[in-house]
Amino acid sequence: MAIKIKNAKQIEGIRKSSRLAAECLKYLEEFAVPGNTTEFINQKALEFMTRHKAKSATLGYNGFKGAVCTSPNDVICHGVPGPYELKDGDILNIDATTILNGYYGDTCKMYEIGKVSDDAKDLLKVTRECLRIGMKECFPGNRFGNIGYAISEYAHSKGYSVVYEFCGHGVGLKFHEDPEVSHIAPKNTGKRMRPGMIFTIEPMINVGKARAKVDKSDGWTARTIDGKLSAQYEHTILVTDNGCEALTDVYGDF
Ligand code: MF3
Ligand code: CO
Ligand code: CO
Repeated sequence: MAIKIKNAKQIEGIRKSSRLAAECLKYLEEFAVPGNTTEFINQKALEFMTRHKAKSATLGYNGFKGAVCTSPNDVICHGVPGPYELKDGDILNIDATTILNGYYGDTCKMYEIGKVSDDAKDLLKVTRECLRIGMKECFPGNRFGNIGYAISEYAHSKGYSVVYEFCGHGVGLKFHEDPEVSHIAPKNTGKRMRPGMIFTIEPMINVGKARAKVDKSDGWTARTIDGKLSAQYEHTILVTDNGCEALTDVYGDF
């Protein structure tokens, strides 16, 4: 399938939804503390989206039961909110996808619960840098494979592995559009980026092995096979005439 080029009106709509998704993650910071359950955080996310006239794209998506994904520690992604109680030293990913006036915005980030180890801090720092490095590859004419090439070169140089079983994706008019954006890829492969394309980059970086296994109990929660930590950051990216803009980077972190 051809990759959609969004028009000005669509870009405005996706920009607003992306902003809201980012604001939702910001709002959740105060609740990502020891003692709170991931289900409680989910409730707060749902309240926030509802209050701002948005829907969650994940709630009911192929039977997924969360308004956000909550993925602590060894959970790579797609963690289902539930009774898990956050504890001091945990790392937690929250992934929010909003639908506002029919437009989708998708972003995730990491939360340090209480005081986390230096090892965990390093993983978060490198994973955030992976997203930044991926964003630097976003400009007209460049090939999608160079995103994954740059990210994986950097992650490997730091001794981490890159999850290959889940990818970034086109986004905006639907939750998951073409193309798939791999976070590990050969140089100069894939289609070329054009202004008006909108997609996510969402590297999942592991301390140990790259492989994921999905919990049989819920069919969603994807964990590292060795129980070691995993981290992820995600932005919704618009290719512009001379580079890109992260529509979900509302707080100028990137
Ligand atoms: N928001 C996730 C992504 O970045 C997808 C979550 S799908 C769900 O693509 F069903 F697990 F919620
Ligand atoms: Co995504
Ligand atoms: Co997401």
